[in-house]
Order: sequence, then C-alpha cells, then structure tokens
Amino acid sequence: MTSENTAMPQVQLGQNGPMIGAQGLGCMGMSEFYGETNETESRATLERALELGVTMYDTADMYGVGANEEFLAPFIAAHLDQVIVATKFGYTRTPENPDDWSLDNRPEFIRAAVDRSLKRLGIHVIDLYYMHRRDGVTPLEESIGAMADLVTAGKVKWLGLSAVSAAELRTAHAIHPISAVQSEWSIFTRDIEQEVVPAAVELGVTIVPYSPLGRGMLTGQAFANGLSGDDARQYFPRFAKENRDANMGLVAKIEEIASAKGVTSAQLALAWLNTQSNRLNVKTVPIPGTRKRMRLDENVAAVSIGLTTDEMEALEPLAAAVQGVSI
Ligand SMILES: NC(=O)c1ccc[n+]([C@@H]2O[C@H](COP(=O)([O-])OP(=O)(O)OC[C@H]3O[C@@H](n4cnc5c(N)ncnc54)[C@H](OP(=O)(O)O)[C@@H]3O)[C@@H](O)[C@H]2O)c1
Repeated sequence: MTSENTAMPQVQLGQNGPMIGAQGLGCMGMSEFYGETNETESRATLERALELGVTMYDTADMYGVGANEEFLAPFIAAHLDQVIVATKFGYTRTPENPDDWSLDNRPEFIRAAVDRSLKRLGIHVIDLYYMHRRDGVTPLEESIGAMADLVTAGKVKWLGLSAVSAAELRTAHAIHPISAVQSEWSIFTRDIEQEVVPAAVELGVTIVPYSPLGRGMLTGQAFANGLSGDDARQYFPRFAKENRDANMGLVAKIEEIASAKGVTSAQLALAWLNTQSNRLNVKTVPIPGTRKRMRLDENVAAVSIGLTTDEMEALEPLAAAVQGVSI
C-alpha cells in the first residue's frame, strides 16, 4: 500500500493547540543511535514528509548532542509556518561530555537549555517543549513552573512531558496545561495503557507514541543486514543475543498477519496503534522514525489502516511474551 492517495487525518494537540497531522516524524536516527546516517536522503525524507501532510517533527537537545537540532534548522527555516517543532530538555550530555547521561530538571538548567535549543534550531519559539526524563531530585512543581515561565516569555508555545506516570501528568497539568505526553507505545510495549492513557483522555492531552515500530524490531527488518558497530540497539535488552530469537519469533506473527492483510509489518504495527487508540478514545500522534523516503511513504500510508477484532486478538498476547525490558 502506498501513500499517494492518503489524506492525512488531523488531531488536536492538547486542549488548546492546533490541528496537526495524525502521524509525525521521529528525527533522532537522522543524527545518532541507529547506525550509519545519510544526510541527503534524510533531508529528502523531511521534505517528503511535509508533502504527505506530516506536521510534527520530533527531536531533542541530546540527539547527536545538539547535532539533530542543528540538522533540522534549514528545513524548519524553509517551512516555518507549516511545521510543529518538538524538542526536549533534561539530559546533560554535551559535545565535550557525550557520555554524561545525567539528568537535570532544575529551573536554571531549563532556562539555559531552552536558549541553546532555540539557537541550534534557528527559531525564536519552540512549538512543543518536553521534559525528556525526570531527574528524580528536582520537585516537579519547580520544573513545570520554569517551563510555564518559558511560555509566558514567548520562548515556548506548548508543554510536554516524556515517560511520566499518570500522577506526574496530573500534578504537572494542575500547574500548567500539558499538551502532549510522549511515551513508548507499540504492540510490544503497552504499559501506558493502564494509567497514563486514561489520564490523558481525561485531561485532553495528546499521546505521542515513540518507538511505535519497537525501534525497528517490529518491522522484521532490524536485523536484515545486522546491526552496525555504531548502532546503539546492540546494547538494548530486546535486541540482545539471548532475547533476539524469542522476540523475532513474535515478530514472525506480526509478519504473518501483515502478509495476510496485504500490508507490511511496519504498517501493521502503526495500524495497531490507530486501532488501539480509537478503542481507548485517546488522541495520538505516533512519531515513527525513518531516514528513508520509501519507508516514510509506507508508514504514512498506514494512517488510514485499521485492524479487525480478530487481528487485534491475535496480536494481544505479544506484549506479555516479549523478552527483555525496553530502554
Ligand atoms: N522520548 C523519548 O524518550 C524517546 C525515545 C526514543 C525515541 N524517541 C523519538 O521517537 C522517534 C521514533 O522512535 P525510534 O526511532 O526509536 O523507533 P521506531 O520509530 O520504532 O523505529 C525506527 C527504526 O525503524 C526503521 N524503520 C522505520 N520505518 C520502517 C519501515 N517502514 N520498514 C522498515 N524499517 C523501518 C528505521 O530505520 P531507517 O531510519 O533506516 O528507516 C529505524 O531503524 C525517534 O526518532 C525520536 O524522535 C523518543
């Protein structure tokens, strides 16, 4: 299935935000983590995404230690009125200390981080600014207060949180409206369905599922050519040798259902999210990551695919059977 005739459905960002394309684009792999990158093809992929109605482009200050934000800058400058730029703060890694994976949610860190991101992105206001991870020390109230001040100062339009609990979302939302929660959500990773999704529904928050393709695993192609030496997934438990075979056995089930339906495994994984979010009545904008135009076409085409009750039932046991935690 291709995307040529697919009109991109629209989803509202939070309670008061704009209507945006129902699928966004994860840009992380264009700079780091998933092996060799190709600047020319990545730039063409960004342009193709825009043509197909993708509005939200997801980055973070720590992807490529700033390089991913810089990489996006020319694309954003060329299409400022058409894109929603989403970035994140929280990790302290810098080009000088790329292996420093500490977290910092203090107001002074947030104030400095937003200015660094604005500069790298080449813009005056960030559309959606997420706290990437809690630092476990700074009271949430202080961090959200500092984030709300950025909205007042005109440096940020809407606030988001990543990988938070329902209680954290409620606390934050009582201080300042939270427009989006970004968390891992896929056929293999369903923890947020228990409490976070119901809280998001109640508060009008949009869920932005990250790694909707299980970091490539659900597509069945993650190991097609092996993982290169600079591919961080080799260190992730689900991709580790001791779990790989069991997990690829589960992926075979996805391939079987996809093939019977006449779609690809990636499309099936995205269609599962469409169907599950409809069932749970939650607004979602998944952000599958790809650096390739052909895959982007394939993924965007999935916005209009839904799964039958039988297909959903066949996929239901997979999350409980997957081996290894997701990090
Ligand atoms: N908030 C957080 O903590 C957090 C954590 C992780 C990720 N994220 C965000 O979420 C985005 C998406 O997550 P992700 O990149 O980790 O994982 P993902 O979207 O589940 O999977 C991406 C992987 O799948 C491959 N792929 C994409 N479409 C494909 C297709 N149709 N067929 C076969 N393979 C395909 C990509 O390879 P190619 O690029 O080579 O196509 C890449 O290796 C990231 O880019 C990032 O912006 C956020």
